[in-house]
Amino acid sequence: MGIAILGTGSALPEKILTNFDLEKMVDTTDEWIRKRTGMRERHIGEKETVASLAATACKRALENAGRTADSVDLIIVATCTTEMLLPCAACRVQNMLGAEHAIAFDINAACGGFLFALNTAHHYIASGACKNALIVGSEVLSEIIDWTDRGTCVLFGDGSGAVYVEDTGTEDGSGITGMSQGSNGMAGSMLYCRGRVVKGETEPEINSEDLLVHMNGGEVFKFAVRQVPVCIKKALDMAGLKPEDIDLYILHQANKRIIESIAKSLKTDIERFPMNIEKTGNTSSASIPILLDELNREGRIKKGQRIMLSGFGAGMTFGACAMVW
Ligand code: ACO
Repeated sequence: MGIAILGTGSALPEKILTNFDLEKMVDTTDEWIRKRTGMRERHIGEKETVASLAATACKRALENAGRTADSVDLIIVATCTTEMLLPCAACRVQNMLGAEHAIAFDINAACGGFLFALNTAHHYIASGACKNALIVGSEVLSEIIDWTDRGTCVLFGDGSGAVYVEDTGTEDGSGITGMSQGSNGMAGSMLYCRGRVVKGETEPEINSEDLLVHMNGGEVFKFAVRQVPVCIKKALDMAGLKPEDIDLYILHQANKRIIESIAKSLKTDIERFPMNIEKTGNTSSASIPILLDELNREGRIKKGQRIMLSGFGAGMTFGACAMVW
């Protein structure tokens, strides 16, 4: 059995916010942001929502795969910023696509969400419960960012990326060959967002800043450079591969320096780690499929190449997936 990505798609909001725009909002500079993160600009949703961006990304992924919405069995949206609690974003996407035969639900594993959704879909397909799936990472992080906190507001962007996966059953060797994922709830306080006040809580007990994203950037940085290589090595072991066997590492675009440290730790040439962080910022669960779509459409991923996807995020969560394209 080959469970392979047959199509990719993405969608970014129209509005672009540059580092120079941020200079006018908080005490920061273009130079600081570029040097510490590799980012120059990011997209910000104004009229776009998690579901509308996800639906556009899905349509593009289906088109790219040469498939139609009525044949989709499963839709999983990875998101931590859905605009409505009920119904879930995946059901709204199902409605927008007219994918009436699909099972649809969301996963929240923050920036690790896309890998968690891909792993879940893999199990559904491997068990025979489904033949195909649309897997989406979609975020409008600008809604939960504290725009007065320079330590976080310069980092994030909005957008969506989707892949269409199918049991191709082919003998050409394409498909997922190794997966690894994990969670560390004990480290949850490194990066959190309360989001809303719940019943029984009163103002003095809640720090209003906690309703927005709160992050210990240094600790998250250390967590990522320690945990991601371990997770990647587990997926490599499962696939029977060594770091140098991978042609392209498509990692969560959180910080250019994190990606450089991971490349160093795996003793692998940084050229194998493509990045688009300069133009998108950290789009959380959407960053891996957005980059994948960009590379796919530019023809930079070739049939038969070995690809590693890996991400980490609030929770803390982490995941990796090795595949042959
Ligand atoms: N502009 C200017 N100065 C700033 C800014 C800013 N935007 N932000 C912080 N600073 C200052 C700090 O106040 C500090 O000043 P001080 O030395 O006078 O105290 C100085 O810059 C250094 O701050 P650090 O936090 O030590 O800077 P660092 O090099 O660690 O970079 C960063 C900060 C970019 C946040 C980094 O730690 C990072 O990328 N961490 C990982 C974040 C991440 O990946 N988050 C996403 C996780 S995925 C998810 O689930 C959402």
